[in-house]
Amino acid sequence: MEILKVENLTKIYGEYSNKVTALDHVSFSVEKGEFVAIVGASGSGKSTLLHLIGGVDRPTSGKVFIDGKDIFEFNDDKLAIFRRRQVGLIYQFYNLIPILNVEENITLPLSLDNRAVDNKVLSDLLDTLGLKSRKNHLPNELSGGQQQRTSIGRALITNPALILADEPTGNLDSKSSDEIVALLKKSNKELNQTIIMITHNMEIAKCADRIIKLEDGKIVEEE
Ligand SMILES: Nc1ncnc2c1ncn2[C@@H]1O[C@H](COP(=O)(O)OP(=O)(O)O)[C@@H](O)[C@H]1O
Ligand SMILES: [Mg+2]
Repeated sequence: MEILKVENLTKIYGEYSNKVTALDHVSFSVEKGEFVAIVGASGSGKSTLLHLIGGVDRPTSGKVFIDGKDIFEFNDDKLAIFRRRQVGLIYQFYNLIPILNVEENITLPLSLDNRAVDNKVLSDLLDTLGLKSRKNHLPNELSGGQQQRTSIGRALITNPALILADEPTGNLDSKSSDEIVALLKKSNKELNQTIIMITHNMEIAKCADRIIKLEDGKIVEEE
């Protein structure tokens, strides 16, 4: 089943002499349960692509379908709700809320949606993430790896159609990096979670089912 379809996606920033074509008619599809890595040099358009797929920004032209829905047909409010329910975002620098503890950060997408927390689901998730003993800690009391595991929990808690990760191991040592990749792989295998992950690291990219390479805003090879 096709969970994501990207059609002729183009993003142009700026005007006149400042004009940058960050994405140039990019098209591809992702099946449910696939783990896709996106690689490419700095400035090749990787983050722009991920932000458009996640509905964080709107394209200059082209379409994104998630689970069959044309996401840019939604107005901004509807798009924000769709994103909260259907897309889990993971960033290099975690983007946790500093005044919320681990458990509160993980359950934030549910709280924002006035949805109840299933305590069994939360408890199992904290176990999987290895964060049970840290659930009442604030982000600044955690290691980088623990903060990133918290942000993975926040991405998984809503059971989203897609998880989008922008260099999730970019700020971590190799041991924590391996833990994060193993955790993503596990959620991919055991929960059939679809994941699209940007990485600079070819070793990490090779853990994916498929690698998409970007160069100057275009897909140059898919393997
Ligand atoms: N908000 C923005 N305004 C103007 N130019 C931007 C903006 N974001 C990205 N760009 C430009 O678009 C191109 C692609 O950027 P980006 O998607 O961040 O690449 P990557 O994540 O592969 O490093 C770069 O040339 C970058 O300078
Ligand atoms: Mg980037």
